[in-house]
Amino acid sequence: MFSLTYPLNMQVETTEACNHACLYCYNHWRTKRNAGKMSEDQAKRLAEIIEEDIHPFHVTITGGEPLLNMAATLTLARELKKRGTFYNLNTNLVLLNEERLAGLQEAACDGRFGILTSLPHHEAEVFKAITGRDTLEEFYRNLRRVSREDLPVTVNMVVHSMNQGAVYDEGRFLFEEFGIRNFAATPMLEPSMRLTSVKPLSTTEINRVLEDLLRLHEDLGISVDTLETIPRCALSESLRNNSLQLFNRACSAGRSTLSIGYDGNVRSCSHSPIPEGNIFTDGFSQLWERLQPYRDNQYVPEECDDCQEFFGCYGGCRFNGFQEGDSLKTPDRRMTSKILTRKAIQREIPRISEDQRLRANPNTVSRRERENLYTFFNGNFAHVLFVNEAYKQVIDHLATRGTFTPRELDLGEERDKAMTLLGVLVDRKYLFVET
Ligand SMILES: C[S@@+](CC[C@H](N)C(=O)[O-])C[C@H]1O[C@@H](n2cnc3c(N)ncnc32)[C@H](O)[C@@H]1O
Ligand code: SF4
Ligand code: SF4
Repeated sequence: MFSLTYPLNMQVETTEACNHACLYCYNHWRTKRNAGKMSEDQAKRLAEIIEEDIHPFHVTITGGEPLLNMAATLTLARELKKRGTFYNLNTNLVLLNEERLAGLQEAACDGRFGILTSLPHHEAEVFKAITGRDTLEEFYRNLRRVSREDLPVTVNMVVHSMNQGAVYDEGRFLFEEFGIRNFAATPMLEPSMRLTSVKPLSTTEINRVLEDLLRLHEDLGISVDTLETIPRCALSESLRNNSLQLFNRACSAGRSTLSIGYDGNVRSCSHSPIPEGNIFTDGFSQLWERLQPYRDNQYVPEECDDCQEFFGCYGGCRFNGFQEGDSLKTPDRRMTSKILTRKAIQREIPRISEDQRLRANPNTVSRRERENLYTFFNGNFAHVLFVNEAYKQVIDHLATRGTFTPRELDLGEERDKAMTLLGVLVDRKYLFVET
């Protein structure tokens, strides 16, 4: 990808505090005594900066545990809703009560809001061994609450030595007991700046987890994913080229994401312990400029030179197990060896007929990247589109048409090209086919 002018998404940590003590947690401040919290004023100011300067398509409100700072969490949520920004709340759910749920419902923006929650194990004993707390019942009670209210939920399971055999069973259990249709299993990234007793997965184990996810999709029809980058060379060829095109997550640190702590300190990614400056005092452009070396591939390990899968992972995670004094160019520990030939996968574009009735996705947003380059987003990062001025005008025009058929449009001389564009827009869900 070319160098973006703004991040596609960002994380905001409204607090460092947490009611859990997950062994796997990457939060590098875990050993600190006094956890910091964002104030309501800061949350409000940050929402303004997000709108005026940062222009992300999506914001994740996270922590620590963001329900421990409801004032700032709700303030930010309300402000984002007001501005139509897509956002989600990343929470362990345990502290959700009726009042907090009501607050969230009020701040939830239809089609632009979701809850991302974590469940390290679906059985009480292992859950307690991993989180250090006996709170599984509260988690289930609250998962039931949010599901009953139809708030969109994705459950993420961070996978390591203590729960690697439970991925398939947990996905099936959540589907059968709670109707969860979005399930992620994310191989643990080793925390930076601290050591933990849980072990990360070997490459064989990582492959097994991803195969379990594909099996869940096949058996139950649920959506599955993994939420962090995995070096492409750690995956088997069949997983790399899986027909659902899942597990293609390149490292986004400083390229398409950034993370803001409770005090406004900016990092290239939530896993990074390195402060790059402060959003309240330094201003976004200066901070984004400081992250330019990420976008210029300056932190990519030499071992990845000429790898044919480079754009699929950018060398993997820069902070996997990062410790004081380490170089950012250290290869991700899960890397095996560069890939010399790459299977080219042609994505099939649906063929649209002249009389098919189409409708624009109302959750489409766009921004100007630079001259003659625009970015479109509709809530799914796999569907981000980069287009020139002419294409932008077409997409904007279609949004004003209500429903239409290609025959009703004036497609001009380049009819075939225009039909292919409509196919791409249907494929990426910027257009829906009316049934
Ligand atoms: C730090 S948590 C904060 C939000 C909330 N307390 C929770 O656990 O859902 C943010 C996300 O990172 C995931 N996570 C935490 N430690 C991780 C690690 N070492 N590797 C990969 N993901 C991790 C969590 O499961 C969660 O989805
Ligand atoms: S993963 Fe979330 S719930 Fe667990 S300790 Fe970290 S911040 Fe807390
Ligand atoms: S060699 Fe580097 S760029 Fe290639 S797949 Fe492995 S980690 Fe990614």
